[in-house]
Amino acid sequence: MTATTPPLTTELAEAAHGYLTQTRANARSGMPTRREGSSLDVMLGKLAASGHRAPVLPTAADLEHWKADPTSLADEQHTRSCAGGLIEVQIEPGRTAAVPCPRCTASRREITLRERLSAAGIAARYLEVEWAGLDLALDPFPRLQRATANIAQIIAGNDSLVLTGPPGSGKTQVAVLAAKAALAANFSALVVNLGRLALDVRESYQGGGAGITERQALELLIRPDLLILDDLGAGETDTAAVERRLLYLALEDRQNARKPCIVTTNLDAAELARHLGARNLGRLQPLEIVGMHHGRNFRVSEEKSRW
Ligand SMILES: Nc1ncnc2c1ncn2[C@@H]1O[C@H](COP(=O)(O)OP(=O)(O)O)[C@@H](O)[C@H]1O
Ligand SMILES: [Mg+2]
Ligand SMILES: [Zn+2]
Repeated sequence: MTATTPPLTTELAEAAHGYLTQTRANARSGMPTRREGSSLDVMLGKLAASGHRAPVLPTAADLEHWKADPTSLADEQHTRSCAGGLIEVQIEPGRTAAVPCPRCTASRREITLRERLSAAGIAARYLEVEWAGLDLALDPFPRLQRATANIAQIIAGNDSLVLTGPPGSGKTQVAVLAAKAALAANFSALVVNLGRLALDVRESYQGGGAGITERQALELLIRPDLLILDDLGAGETDTAAVERRLLYLALEDRQNARKPCIVTTNLDAAELARHLGARNLGRLQPLEIVGMHHGRNFRVSEEKSRW
């Protein structure tokens, strides 16, 4: 088929590209975009006549598809369609609109989560991992994977979760995957190590530069649609009072706003209840407690000693 296609003149290709770029710029600046009978249509007609596929704009259906899975917007198509984070989409014949590029939007979200993860003292490598990269033969991973696929319903239902189990059982990894799912579904999410946050707050009492005020810390905990409190109960004893106060105020606000939490902890259910106190536990309702008692420590194989 390509053998019978006459060569596309570079001149025509460059003109079409220039026009599309201009159209996108117009769309961004709110100027009128492509109309029927415009010079582009003439050019497209020429391209069609010459036997080449016209540079077709993506449709609303393409956009929906890319929104559902930003990775389906492949490199080549992305280079062709995305201009500085905007994509020109053909809404209906003769009518186009510039919309945010799903792939750029997704990567911006990932950067945000990456920054937040590192701010919370959580290694960014958790972010690289997908469910498919985990050993899913063990209970309760399949159940947690299915649940995070419905993260929108979980957030809408204000359903909190406690992941309890020994170190290396995958609690933080599952929580980060839930945060990623929430972000992909257009919710805000934050992963926080409350012990570290309390240390930062204490630093601000002492006039430390890196510290944040208790009010700022509280703001941070209240804002996200999904809050992940990583490794609760592992903080130092001398910051316990700050932790408890932050938790008490944050959970009150979050429950009123019907925003759920995911807690990961090495404490068992009884220890956690003691650590949180009855009031805080009450503010995490409805609450599901899932034990990670599959017996594997994924860190052992990961951290091979060289001695
Ligand atoms: N089901 C799994 N299969 C393979 N690796 C896993 C699994 N769950 C977690 N991991 C990996 O094991 C390591 C420890 O997991 P992590 O979530 O930090 O455990 P925890 O928070 O319970 O201490 C991480 O590198 C994580 O990516
Ligand atoms: Mg952990
Ligand atoms: Zn893009």
